[in-house]
Amino acid sequence: MVKAKKYVVKQYFEGLPKPEDYDIVEEVLEPIKAGGIVVKTEWISVDPYLRAYNRRSSVPYDQYSFQVGVVQESKNPDFPIGTRVVTHKGWRNYTVIYPKEASPEDTIYKLPDLRGLSNSLGVGAVGMPGATAYFGFLEICKPKPGETVVVTGAAGAVGSIVGQIAKIKGCKVIGFAGSDDKVQWLEKELGFDKAINYKTADVAKVLKEAAPNGVDCFFDNVGGDLSSAIIYQMNLYGRVSVCGSISAYNEDVHTSPKANILQPAIVAKQLKIEGFIVHRWRNQWPKAFSDIVQWIESGKLIAREHVTEGFDNILKAFVGMLNGENTGKAVVKV
Ligand SMILES: NC(=O)c1ccc[n+]([C@@H]2O[C@H](COP(=O)([O-])OP(=O)(O)OC[C@H]3O[C@@H](n4cnc5c(N)ncnc54)[C@H](OP(=O)(O)O)[C@@H]3O)[C@@H](O)[C@H]2O)c1
Repeated sequence: MVKAKKYVVKQYFEGLPKPEDYDIVEEVLEPIKAGGIVVKTEWISVDPYLRAYNRRSSVPYDQYSFQVGVVQESKNPDFPIGTRVVTHKGWRNYTVIYPKEASPEDTIYKLPDLRGLSNSLGVGAVGMPGATAYFGFLEICKPKPGETVVVTGAAGAVGSIVGQIAKIKGCKVIGFAGSDDKVQWLEKELGFDKAINYKTADVAKVLKEAAPNGVDCFFDNVGGDLSSAIIYQMNLYGRVSVCGSISAYNEDVHTSPKANILQPAIVAKQLKIEGFIVHRWRNQWPKAFSDIVQWIESGKLIAREHVTEGFDNILKAFVGMLNGENTGKAVVKV
């Protein structure tokens, strides 16, 4: 008999998520039948979309997210005991899964070959966030060597990989992040040409100095005033990949900040602005994963993680990430 623990969202978040918004519920798992597996969770991901999508589900709902686990019991020859899997089962420590019956939202696939790197990368650089950086940047920005790339949320899971891929592709890279330590890390360790603390800098002025010839590609994780300032410095035929808008995720949906008018810049510079969801390229993720593992192995890409320990600290890790405490991918080891 396996007893599982899970986080259930019992009421909608107002501002930052709070302990009162969750219940931690225990349940006894049914014994598995043919085709089933029991997965023991090892790594849990905390991501901005868990906040952004909160009102898409009716409460109460089980807190989903990506996780890496190991098959502990199996009646499925495709997933023998010891197999590492990535699932979207979220904040829970044990799960019964019937892989053949899993819906696309459930997601279950075998952890890619990480060639000895930490399994936690399966929810980070070699998981959904890595695929987001890879396809969202390369497919939408279509960067050319020598072009100037700007990325916001630059020290986070997605942004830090976008910036490094841009360097690998021979671009000049400018990143915006929320602390001087992050700025140092981006410039000194990741090789960004320039990093800027958006909380303290005169953004438009510093960007003009860093990119005197304008911006060709902009990978936007943040939205709001920061994005508007950058869009007004784009070059003719610039490309903007709209990945997210974390600056507004904790805002009241009814009183979200109003954006500056952007149309003059979009029209005059004939910009292409495209949003995306990483699942668009779902069947190509393995290509991204194999390139990213290779880049990590060859020292071209650093996949830093911000690790929190303990099942009971998942909410703390989630809120910490929303507050910018993470450099690199925020993950929880359970
Ligand atoms: N479209 C897709 O398919 C897709 C897939 C994955 C992720 N995303 C999006 O990608 C973005 C980054 O996600 P991630 O997983 O890589 O998270 P992350 O960047 O690792 O963590 C979130 C970061 O957001 C920054 N932040 C928080 N509040 C902010 C604000 N008001 N203004 C500016 N920055 C703020 C914080 O860094 P600072 O210290 O720099 O403020 C924090 O570390 C999010 O917008 C997410 O929704 C989209």
